[in-house]
Amino acid sequence: MTGLILAAAGSGARFESSVPKQFLQFHGKPIYLFALETIGELCEEIAVVVPRDWLHRVRKERSELDLQERINVIEGGPSRQESVSLGLQALSPGITRVLVHDAARPCVTRTLVDRVLGGLQHGAACVPVLPIADTVKEVDGHRVLRTLNRSRLRLAQTPQAFDREVLESVLMRAAKEGISATDEATLVERSGECVYTVDGEQENIKITWKQD
Ligand code: CTP
Ligand code: MG
Repeated sequence: MTGLILAAAGSGARFESSVPKQFLQFHGKPIYLFALETIGELCEEIAVVVPRDWLHRVRKERSELDLQERINVIEGGPSRQESVSLGLQALSPGITRVLVHDAARPCVTRTLVDRVLGGLQHGAACVPVLPIADTVKEVDGHRVLRTLNRSRLRLAQTPQAFDREVLESVLMRAAKEGISATDEATLVERSGECVYTVDGEQENIKITWKQD
């Protein structure tokens, strides 16, 4: 069985709005609901992880959804990794594979979800990626240190798929060792397990800055 952790507990510091970006309205609907509805249909259980102040509001919105029976709304943590850990704890033991998705990526499609879950046959985790069009420089302040070979670089998106046991074990180990990563696939990578990649989608942007 497949579970979804929808990470919606960030404060959106770079976006600079008083309401966290995932709760802003777009075409009359809060941003996080777009991904919840698209991916939620494909999952047996869902943990939506939100800031404490938003628990009440999101639980109320949940009660109006067709998928409400499958959804658990829980409080997140100070980092994305901690939010994902809390979400994982809320999924029942019967869930053997887990999708982790950024609530700030509303344009995710079912095709992408299927592709990522398919990729899980080749590794303990599967990540959608995009090639990089621009030349990539490593800098120190304003000075360029070097230019990276972009042909082997990829931009990682979500949804990312995981074998549940592997995800659980890398998150526990990271917490114990005080390691934090910007996505959970990084932790799987470090454990030596195979992280497989599939094609991501250009449209699947993460709302980060006001311009987005
Ligand atoms: N997220 C989360 N819990 C946190 C931090 C982030 O669930 N403590 C979620 C965000 O809500 C978002 C996703 O992780 O959907 C990707 O994170 P990001 O785009 O960095 O969002 P924020 O952390 O909210 O933004 P910023 O880094 O600009 O503060
Ligand atoms: Mg962040």
